[in-house]
Amino acid sequence: MISKNMKILVDKSAAISALFTEGKRMRQILGDENVFDFGIGNPNVKAPLSVNKTAIELLENMDSLALHSYTDGAGIPTVRQTIAESLNHRFQEEYTGENIVMTTGAAGGLNVILKVLLDQGDEVLTFAPYFSEYDVYVANAGGRLIAIEPNIPSFLPDAKKLAESITPKTKAIIINNPNNPTGVVYDEETLKKIAEVLEAKQKEFGNAIYLISDEPYRELVFDGATVPYIPKIYKNTIVAYSFSKSLSLPGDRIGYLTIPSSVEDFQDVVYGAGVANRVLGFVNAPALQQLVVAKCCDEKSDIAFYDNNRGILYNALIQYGFECAKPQGAFYLFVKALEEDDVAFVNKAKEFGILMTPGDGFGCKGYVRIAYCVARDTIERALPSFKKLAEAYKH
Ligand SMILES: Cc1ncc(COP(=O)(O)O)c(C=O)c1O
Repeated sequence: MISKNMKILVDKSAAISALFTEGKRMRQILGDENVFDFGIGNPNVKAPLSVNKTAIELLENMDSLALHSYTDGAGIPTVRQTIAESLNHRFQEEYTGENIVMTTGAAGGLNVILKVLLDQGDEVLTFAPYFSEYDVYVANAGGRLIAIEPNIPSFLPDAKKLAESITPKTKAIIINNPNNPTGVVYDEETLKKIAEVLEAKQKEFGNAIYLISDEPYRELVFDGATVPYIPKIYKNTIVAYSFSKSLSLPGDRIGYLTIPSSVEDFQDVVYGAGVANRVLGFVNAPALQQLVVAKCCDEKSDIAFYDNNRGILYNALIQYGFECAKPQGAFYLFVKALEEDDVAFVNKAKEFGILMTPGDGFGCKGYVRIAYCVARDTIERALPSFKKLAEAYKH
């Protein structure tokens, strides 16, 4: 029999696991051409050519033993240094390789940093709607995730509600910018208000409150939006980054943590992150992928492709009568369900071949998430079905 804890996690993860299988099930019933799968954030843009070229060059030219060996828990020193220099260039920082810990994507990075920071029963705050896996990641490290209720309709974090939610047990807060599922980009003013609250509460309770900024969508922004570099605003910030979305490498499991030297107990946190990589069973981030991203970390994905998808889908949905704020980042639309129960609405949409994710799983009932990182053709062919779905609620 599996453990009680695992049983709870399995039940909680059921909605996410279902997203991987539901499209297949629907295709068997409705036929491939009649299913429009907007369920998961699997990029449809190919990785830049340089990624494959670099991998091939490394495989052909690098000593095979060196290429496939275990690496330091924190990553290959030269790779860490290269990433640090790239960040210095982009954000006018003074990092060295010591500030970077290579991880198996943002998921690996978040699990690592939570393992490093949390004692049993510590509280971690986040703002709903939030990436639903945070519940599991925090529980993995023995903590308790507390979601601050959504701020509708802006979906921006509310500093006042944050202040009310912090207790002496609050060890960290997780923010996600740009946000999955809303696509909202948190602006500098909002982040400064959060920082003020955290500074004040650190003083009041006399302990560090770490801000973990989950930023896999940092480069996926539109309409000239910029994502403020949060370590400049709050010194106890650790950034979890990933190449899953920015270079379309979700299956390669590669990302990194940036741990600025200004973070409280910096040396312990960095050293602990290397150890956490090992003891959590990641051991080290994949060696080949570390070397590849070191050479490609300044490459860009085809952002125009996502931007066009966003425009086509958003304009059509608004025209059909759906309510949705136009997102400035990531590749999701967060749309108001046409009935109170978002799960029932998602089930209704399936009758029209449309697969979306209920907002409930993100801590925000009454909304649904549409991942528009799909082929253009999928969006264009899905539009009549979205129209029919809207019409089904008009009487
Ligand atoms: C907000 C957010 N954080 C973390 C992750 C995990 O990404 P990775 O593939 O880098 O582990 C995702 C993946 O969809 C995400 O949307």
